[in-house]
This record gives sequence, structure tokens and C-alpha cells, in this order.
Amino acid sequence: MIASNITRSLYRHLAKPYFFARDPEMIHDRMTDLGKRLGRYRVTRDLVSSFLSYQHPSLAQTILGIPFKNPIGLAAGFDKNAELTNIIPSVGFGFEEVGSITGEPCDGNAKPRLWRLPASKGLLVHYGLKNDGCETIASRLRGKTFSAPLGTSIAKTNSPCTVDVEAGIADYEKAFRALSSIGDYFTINISCPNAFGGEPFTDPARLDLLLNRLDTIETKKPIFLKLPADLPLETIDQLIAITDKHRVHGLIAANLTKKHDASTINQTEIFGKEKGGISGKPVEDLSNALISHLYQTARSRYILIGCGGVFSAQDAYEKIRRGASLIQLITGMIFEGPQLIGEINRGLVGLLRRDGYANISQAIGSKLR
Ligand SMILES: Cc1cc2nc3c(=O)[nH]c(=O)nc-3n(C[C@H](O)[C@H](O)[C@H](O)COP(=O)(O)O)c2cc1C
Repeated sequence: MIASNITRSLYRHLAKPYFFARDPEMIHDRMTDLGKRLGRYRVTRDLVSSFLSYQHPSLAQTILGIPFKNPIGLAAGFDKNAELTNIIPSVGFGFEEVGSITGEPCDGNAKPRLWRLPASKGLLVHYGLKNDGCETIASRLRGKTFSAPLGTSIAKTNSPCTVDVEAGIADYEKAFRALSSIGDYFTINISCPNAFGGEPFTDPARLDLLLNRLDTIETKKPIFLKLPADLPLETIDQLIAITDKHRVHGLIAANLTKKHDASTINQTEIFGKEKGGISGKPVEDLSNALISHLYQTARSRYILIGCGGVFSAQDAYEKIRRGASLIQLITGMIFEGPQLIGEINRGLVGLLRRDGYANISQAIGSKLR
């Protein structure tokens, strides 16, 4: 608790002002380098853990056969190349999703491609699936053991060569095969707003084709589908009617929002920036509404992961009470600091106790029951 308060204060008064005055991608790359170094040695991992991590038995659950020590995970897009798997559990995360990983390596879109939106409490992201590609990332991960569950997010390479539907499916297939026995679960990301050809697999008929192909590839890992934040609920229902026919065990709600004109976004800070998806608080209500809808319509068939705008224990608890079994975040950690994960877990224990629950699993969907 004291260590967490010290870290919060240092982050707020020293690190954040320094970081937020500099290029966001450069800071992200430096933090990745630091995380890689801290993850290399047991002593540094233990030190980080003693400052940041908080665990409690009431937060532990086994979901789809995977034991999670706590429900707070790192969302896809922070550890694009799976270089932080040693340190992420020490930060206090209960799981991590690496990627999104594509069939071929990709440099992503032209820079600059990441902006902070401090007044909106979000990030404008136009990375375009920069990553080392499935073969390099698979060989980086192969044979490693992970101290927290690992999800591998796959997407199709951001290139004119994958715009054709069959080429796009073949690209997903390549990444799926390369990662089929690595990590604990798969996520199929059909909702990257920043790639060539848009999001073709958010169309139900094309999603059917993609899942038909992936169904044929052997894997023991459960499969999640990552949904866009902005689709009308009728289209979401059509997508779920497709996933019902395939090997899909869970849904992630949601990816970045493309709505630049939403009232949650301070227009002066995105003026002149036409491209990119927005993370953080502008996704929160969209994600919460989607979680509620999915819980009400499909809870018997899917595990839900809630993602978008989680900056506090209350934010995470709201998603859990709407039906999310697990939570993912990125932007909250960038705005609040790395102690946020421990703070959320500690706060969740207090909220469970207040509401008379012995375990987090009892709170899932409690707002809608
Ligand atoms: C810098 C950045 C890169 C991202 N890249 C990916 C990605 O490669 N794949 C993906 O599925 N989501 C990606 N996302 C979306 C996040 O996983 C998440 O859905 C979104 O940011 C909402 O969560 P947050 O508000 O906690 O950040 C990215 C988000 C950010 C901020």
C-alpha cells in the first residue's frame, strides 16, 4: 500500500509530466526496453512485484480451464512483439495478451502514429499493426514458461497484398498455425481500425469464411473474438449468429473507437487528425453497453472480456457487474501509472467485500441479474 502510494505520487509528479512532454511512441519504446531489462533477472522482477503487485484469493478464478490469479490483463497493442512476458506478471497483471501478431512482419503506418489526448483521457492510435510477424514472435515465445496466462492476438498483415478476402484469410491462417501451441488462449482481432482494406471480417459472411478456415486447424487453446466498439447492436447480433456456428469461446468488448466526433472527445485536441482509432475514456460507455448486450443475449455461450477506459477499480467493477469475467486495459496505466493494476485489484477486493461476495466470479453480471 505504501509502496503503491509512493509509486503513484512519483508517477503523477515526476514521470508523467516528463513522459507527456515527449513523443508518445518514443516513450513507449523506451518503456518496452526498460520492461525487457527488468524482466531478465529474478531480483528485478521481485523488486517490481514488491512495489506494484497485489494478489488476493477472492480475485482468483479458473476460466475455460485457465487459472487466473486476478482479472486484470494487459490488452493487445502494448506488447506488440511479446517482449514483456517476463515482467508483466510482476507488475501485477493477472494475464497478458501479446500482439496483434500478423502473418508477415509489418512496419506499420507512417509516423507520427500515436498521440495523447489528455483532456479526453484517451490516445489516438494509428500504428497499423506494427509487429515482427508470426514466425519471429513464435520463435521468441516457443519453449518459454509464463507465470501468468498468455493470450496471442492475431490479425491480418497491414498490406495491399492481404486486401483480397482469400489472401486475408490465408494470412490469419499462417499466424494461427505458427501460434497454435504457444500460450493459453487465442484472440482473433477482426477490428483493427488502422489497416489496409479496413475491417473486412466484421462483415458476417466474411467472418464465416475466416472462422471456417480456422476451425480446421488443431489447437487446444480457447478462442476469443475481439469486437469493434462502434458497430450497431444488430450487426453485433449477426456476428454472434456466425460465431455460434464455430469454435469461439469468448468475446472481447471492445477495440478502439473510430468516432472522432463523439461528445466524449475534446475536439480541439484531435483537430486536423483524421486517421486513427481512439482508446481510453471515449471507449468506456461503448464497451460497457456492448458488454451488457452480450451478457444479456449470449452469456450462456461466451466468456466476456471487458476492455475500454478502465482507469480505476470502480471502472473495472462496473464491467464485471455488466457481465465481464476478465478485464483488459492499456490507456489507464499510461495515464495513472504502473501501480494502477495493484490499486484496481486491491480496490476490487474492497468492493467485493462491501457487496458480500467471497469471490469475483459471484459479481459477474450482478447488475443485470
Ligand atoms: C497504442 C495502442 C495499440 C493498440 N494495438 C492493438 C492491437 O494491435 N490489437 C488489438 O486488438 N488492439 C489494439 N489496441 C486496442 C486495445 O487493445 C484496447 O482494445 C483499447 O485501447 C481500449 O482499451 P483501453 O482504453 O484500456 O486502452 C491498441 C491500443 C493502443 C492504445
